[in-house]
Amino acid sequence: MKTQILNAGVDFDANIVYAAELIKQGELVAFPTETVYGLGADAFKEDAVKKIFLAKGRPQDNPLIVHLSSIEQLEDVAKDVPSEFFALKDAFMPGPLTVILKKSEKIPFVVTAGGDTVGVRMPSHPVAKRLIALSSPIAAPSANRSKHVSPTTARHVYDDLAGHIPLILDGGECKVGIESTVLDLTSDVPTILRPGAVTSSMLAEILGEVSENGRIIKIAKSPGMKYQHYSPKCAFVVASSLQRAKEEYLKVASEGQSPVIISKAPVEGFANIAIGEGESAAHNVYAAMREAEESYDYIIAEQLSNEGVEASVMNRVLKAAGGKLI
Ligand code: TXA
Ligand code: MG
Repeated sequence: MKTQILNAGVDFDANIVYAAELIKQGELVAFPTETVYGLGADAFKEDAVKKIFLAKGRPQDNPLIVHLSSIEQLEDVAKDVPSEFFALKDAFMPGPLTVILKKSEKIPFVVTAGGDTVGVRMPSHPVAKRLIALSSPIAAPSANRSKHVSPTTARHVYDDLAGHIPLILDGGECKVGIESTVLDLTSDVPTILRPGAVTSSMLAEILGEVSENGRIIKIAKSPGMKYQHYSPKCAFVVASSLQRAKEEYLKVASEGQSPVIISKAPVEGFANIAIGEGESAAHNVYAAMREAEESYDYIIAEQLSNEGVEASVMNRVLKAAGGKLI
């Protein structure tokens, strides 16, 4: 299958209209969101959604998020929606937050991996919003091959999925850069299953109470969490300080490996990719991991703080490193 990349910027609405036609016909379209690129299918079409799992090589027991462009679409997707959801919607939607609710009968079980709950998100990216408004609620995981780093550009999607999908809408770089926060509203205490740009303290402000520390116990509820996600293709460690990163760099270089440091700021005299701090680190981290694995064989990431969005970035980086902190 030939994979087309079409511009979805301003003045390219015809391309979004075309993409919406493909979605309505049961085809897959990769599209930009403010977090990462998604690989979308009509959420109500079982056969279309099945194609997502094939294209990504994704395990069938990992459920998909359903993306909406307006709150009116919610009634076809979820049922028994608690009032907390609407409070969250007023505060954070459209935006990088996914909320787990009870699924409606209309959503096929292939979307929810057989479960009774469904992840719902309203992306803020104008291309995503328009695509959904012109077609249907869209079930979409990140548009990478299963277990690889999530894509933050159309090129990243092409690198992973060329030949497997008909169309990629190019809407430029994703602003946020890491995947949405996933919050389970079906448990007694709302529980963060995946941290993201909407942080626990932001959620607690709206809900009064959020569970994040029970992460290990609660993670089991999200089937996807048992897989090691976000893996680059080469050795990967996190260094507790820049000094430690430099020591590791010199050690592995002397052993004949080709290391690179992913750091906050540029590091003179060392192969290095600087990603900045805070929201800038979130925005740049996945592109940096892809760039690093292309040209080097040993990635050393400098540890960030445990606060706010940096904590969410560290969640992804530590996963990529298989938890290896030196
Ligand atoms: O930012 C994002 O969330 C991106 C963009 C494209 O929207 N999507 C994304 O999807 O990251 P994916 O499939 O790569 O990650 C979704 C995560 C998985 O870990 C999955 O297990 C969890 O959300 N999830 C989805 N539905 C769930 C459900 N009903 N119950 C528990 N966890 C769920
Ligand atoms: Mg993913």
